[in-house]
Amino acid sequence: MTDPHKGLTGLLDTEAIRKDFPILDRRVHDGKPLVYLDNAATSQTPRQVIDTLSTYYERYNANVHRGVHVLAEEATELYEGARDKVAEFVNAPSRDEVIFTKNASESLNLVANMLGWADEPYRVDRETEIVITEMEHHSNIVPWQLLAQRTGAKLKWFGLDPADGTLDLSNIEEVITEKTKIVSFVLVSNILGTHNPVEQIVRRAHEVGALVLIDASQAAPHMPLDVQALQADFVAFTGHKMCGPTGIGVLWGRQELLEDLPPFLGGGEMIETVSMHSSTYAPAPHKFEAGTPPIAQAVGLGAAVDYLTSIGMEKIAAHEKAITEYAVRRLMEVPDLRVIGPTTAEERGSAISFTLGDIHPHDVGQVLDEQGIAVRVGHHCARPVCLRYGIPATTRASFYLYSTPAEVDALVDGLEHVRNFFG
Ligand SMILES: Cc1ncc(COP(=O)(O)O)c(C=O)c1O
Repeated sequence: MTDPHKGLTGLLDTEAIRKDFPILDRRVHDGKPLVYLDNAATSQTPRQVIDTLSTYYERYNANVHRGVHVLAEEATELYEGARDKVAEFVNAPSRDEVIFTKNASESLNLVANMLGWADEPYRVDRETEIVITEMEHHSNIVPWQLLAQRTGAKLKWFGLDPADGTLDLSNIEEVITEKTKIVSFVLVSNILGTHNPVEQIVRRAHEVGALVLIDASQAAPHMPLDVQALQADFVAFTGHKMCGPTGIGVLWGRQELLEDLPPFLGGGEMIETVSMHSSTYAPAPHKFEAGTPPIAQAVGLGAAVDYLTSIGMEKIAAHEKAITEYAVRRLMEVPDLRVIGPTTAEERGSAISFTLGDIHPHDVGQVLDEQGIAVRVGHHCARPVCLRYGIPATTRASFYLYSTPAEVDALVDGLEHVRNFFG
């Protein structure tokens, strides 16, 4: 028999990597090995991050910035050290451009609110326009709908190609105009897997003086991310999809913008002085981090960044490309299976959505789960994509640095079982 994995190149040593992730040894449903293919929702956490979190609570836990005792100073050093690590991970020109939030959703909402309260030239009002795309996660749709409702600004978006899940940019000059204040779009779609053409969009946005926000939630975990190369004004991502803990997100923003733009949340940590009449604010990033920040979570994210860096983001990207190529190829062999999104591994991330004949994705997910295979089903918080393609939902398998070709095979066998189950 020929080896189906022959010819797969660029794979990581998953046998070694999987030893770092204790949860991957779990068995579910009467002893079936866990096949975890829900990484676009949340990735698993390596021992190195879990240990960092335990050590933090066992030895250093204290509030940051305002203490004079040893623990407060050490906790502050760890928290600010995590900022250094994240800044380096995304090639930020300055550590002060890295704002810690609780997740990508908060990062995106933060920008929408900054712009709603900003003075000229950034202010969004009834004379101006906001541009997004039809493939955004709800986290990059709803904040802009709210801003449009509150300010009277017009919300516009790029549609999708009817066939292949890419953006239709044929009308870019009509969508992004002199009235556009902000263009906010996803780098890699969580539902379609599409990797969007950043350069073309950023160039047009900057040509008309609009700001650019990139949602890199599905990119930061999977490929080298260089905020300077992207040439955007803001970049958002989330810790729990990149081997970090939940409760931590990042907003990177260009320093001069962060200096000019107003804070969103008020409270401790973000002020310089306060009187009963008014307050002045601390410089960025603290201006945007009101209250006690997610300290342990930031420290955990710093450990996640160390972990990913030690393996190498280029190598992780190459591994996922090989797995994704193999997965798309194998999935397309399953009768009645339709991939919703690009069908080549070029310019695509490792989340693959599909439908299987008339079988409802919830049924697909349940029968796969009974076999120990964890996938996600539903609209993946990107319902406009489902509406666009006339489907109620999809099943989504998504891969990461510890995913193996054997897990792809398990998924394909599992889908065969689903087809038999439903006749
Ligand atoms: C593309 C994209 N943007 C934003 C988010 C929101 O991330 P969080 O729920 O951590 O805020 C997600 C999460 O699935 C996502 O995939």
